[in-house]
Amino acid sequence: MRFLAPVTVGLVSLFFSPVLAQYTDPSAPFNLVLLSSTNTTLNGSSLAACHTGAAIESLCVTGGAVSPGSDTFTLNTSASAPSPPPAIGNPGYLIYVLQGSNFNESEPLSLYIDPASNVALPLFEPGVESTTYAVAFDEKGLLNIQSYVDDTTSPPTLQTKAYYRWYACQTYFLGYQYLNLAFVLGEAEPQNPTCQKVDVTRVFV
Ligand SMILES: *[C@@H]1O[C@H](CO)[C@@H](O)[C@H](O)[C@H]1NC(C)=O
Ligand SMILES: *[C@@H]1O[C@H](CO)[C@@H](O)[C@H](O)[C@H]1NC(C)=O
Ligand SMILES: *[C@@H]1O[C@H](CO)[C@@H](O)[C@H](O)[C@H]1NC(C)=O
Ligand SMILES: *[C@@H]1O[C@H](CO)[C@@H](O)[C@H](O)[C@H]1NC(C)=O
Repeated sequence: MRFLAPVTVGLVSLFFSPVLAQYTDPSAPFNLVLLSSTNTTLNGSSLAACHTGAAIESLCVTGGAVSPGSDTFTLNTSASAPSPPPAIGNPGYLIYVLQGSNFNESEPLSLYIDPASNVALPLFEPGVESTTYAVAFDEKGLLNIQSYVDDTTSPPTLQTKAYYRWYACQTYFLGYQYLNLAFVLGEAEPQNPTCQKVDVTRVFV
């Protein structure tokens, strides 16, 4: 067996280790809204937390504008995590609070990945898991996921970059079929033919 010495990476890479940062500083509550440059039905549609398994919710497209009953979300950030460039936003966990008759569960957003597809499904699930990813809102209010390693070059480019690979797609998960917000892994087009490119913004309540 061989062990390779890791390439020297600065402190900044620690930031992407999910176990180190505690994301417990909540933002004010907001609604999530789609922006689409091509589809006027999707443009301005709010996102809701849709039941897709026991204590699991996806971000489904409501097809309607934000209204007083729309689901609200918060971004839990961390005062101790190193900050990326302000233009792309300070990452944190996107939180939906699942309310039961005798509990409130703060659920962070994770990405469900099926190895057969490049279309990952954002899901709210209890507990911080290895599939929980921090997201950020940039200076224009657009939702992104940031990564430090860009492997489309050799050697890889080590620099924090924001990715906006959000789509509205008809998805299938545990028997539930919705028009959901999805995130496409990598540079390629989504292989799910129903996917339509969108951006996601927030509107504070
Ligand atoms: C989000 O922040 C609130 C307030 O500190 C905390 O109660 C909750 O546990 C946090 N959620 C997660 C998933 O860390
Ligand atoms: C989408 O909605 C935004 C915000 O309401 C608006 O500024 C923009 O013109 C709309 N785009 C289209 C193509 O309708
Ligand atoms: C806009 O999106 C809706 C929802 O997916 C879809 O039914 C409709 O066909 C789309 N319209 C266009 C012009 O693509
Ligand atoms: C859950 O949160 C709601 C809204 O903040 C509150 O009214 C309710 O009492 C909470 N329930 C529990 C069990 O803490």
